[in-house]
Amino acid sequence: MPIRPMTEADLPHVLALQSALSFQSWNEKQFLSELQASYALCLVDEENGAFAGYAIFHLMDADSELLTIATAPEFQRKGIASAFLRYGLGKLNRDKGDQCFLEVREGNTCARKLYEKHGFQAYNKREHYYDDGETAILYKW
Ligand SMILES: CC(C)(COP(=O)(O)OP(=O)(O)OC[C@H]1O[C@@H](n2cnc3c(N)ncnc32)[C@H](O)[C@@H]1OP(=O)(O)O)[C@@H](O)C(=O)NCCC(=O)NCCS
Repeated sequence: MPIRPMTEADLPHVLALQSALSFQSWNEKQFLSELQASYALCLVDEENGAFAGYAIFHLMDADSELLTIATAPEFQRKGIASAFLRYGLGKLNRDKGDQCFLEVREGNTCARKLYEKHGFQAYNKREHYYDDGETAILYKW
């Protein structure tokens, strides 16, 4: 999987994919501030020149976090999100107690299966967490 760091030039693709998948509504400014944060690992995947996905982690050892992850519909189920997770989690040291946290909509079974496949465990939930009232499931790795 040709994973590389995200740059400002990727933002139109990132915003277009976010909007096509309608799972989150970050604006360009939010992505830009992630690109400028020293602790943020912002990644994209390109398959033969086609924009295939992105992921953003905050790498803070014991308190790391996966903020967002997305794969373009035509590239889903080909292991791209898994490659992002391996790449980001590979920067952590579980033996030293490093952890990675995330939250996901209760009904997002694709993402929950992905996370569970990669060793995340649900440890809590927050009811009415999202604007539409859906519950968030909290996972840690
Ligand atoms: C969730 C998402 C990132 C998965 O991306 P992907 O590149 O297709 O994931 P992978 O190919 O690495 O799949 C790994 C595992 O995830 C699970 N999974 C992924 N898509 C699935 C689906 N449609 N149905 C059921 N399980 C699914 C499976 O366990 C899969 O392993 P398998 O193919 O061996 O069965 C993608 O569906 C997506 O972009 N969804 C919209 C955005 C989103 O919800 N992001 C997460 C919340 S921030």
